[in-house]
Amino acid sequence: TKNLEERVKSVIRDVQDFPKPGILFKDITPILLHPSLLQEMVAAMANQFKDVKVDAVAGIESRGYLFGVLLAQKLQVPFIMIRKEGKLPAKTINESYDLEYGSATIEVHEDAITKGSHVLIHDDLLATGGTAVAAANLIQQKAHVAGFSFVIDLTFLEGSKKLKEIQPIIKSLITY
Ligand code: PRP
Ligand code: MG
Repeated sequence: TKNLEERVKSVIRDVQDFPKPGILFKDITPILLHPSLLQEMVAAMANQFKDVKVDAVAGIESRGYLFGVLLAQKLQVPFIMIRKEGKLPAKTINESYDLEYGSATIEVHEDAITKGSHVLIHDDLLATGGTAVAAANLIQQKAHVAGFSFVIDLTFLEGSKKLKEIQPIIKSLITY
């Protein structure tokens, strides 16, 4: 019986030259076609934080929602949507960050974050870490970062180096 990491890797699809030439895209959508594998993954991700104080899970739009809400449900804590700018209807707090070209802003409903609480940041994939750092800075405007949770860590991009200055509890299910 293959371990969970191997089984997840066998379901993730490599797409060559997407979204541009030279990029090998890791497509996680086939995981969603396997409900029992998905259930096992969520249980394993929740287990990685069994000794960590987590008051809520914040998922990053959009792929961070797929597993993030399931992780929050498994941990029996609230789920917070971190969205790209201009989508949330009520009062928000915002954080801008630099991209390869230009910049981006993410935001969260102000009343979704309890002041001083411990928020676990979840996303499907850790690449350069730019998105996760911005999410952490956003959460830290009102609360603490309890840890970082990813399905995939592209370790060769060394994103976790940036994150560990913020919070060294960084977990992923699979690495490349
Ligand atoms: C991808 C991925 C992470 C982010 C990682 O999201 O889902 O959120 O990039 O990259 P980084 O570590 O270099 O910041 P993307 O912006 O493609 O949007 P999506 O989740 O809405 O598909
Ligand atoms: Mg994303």
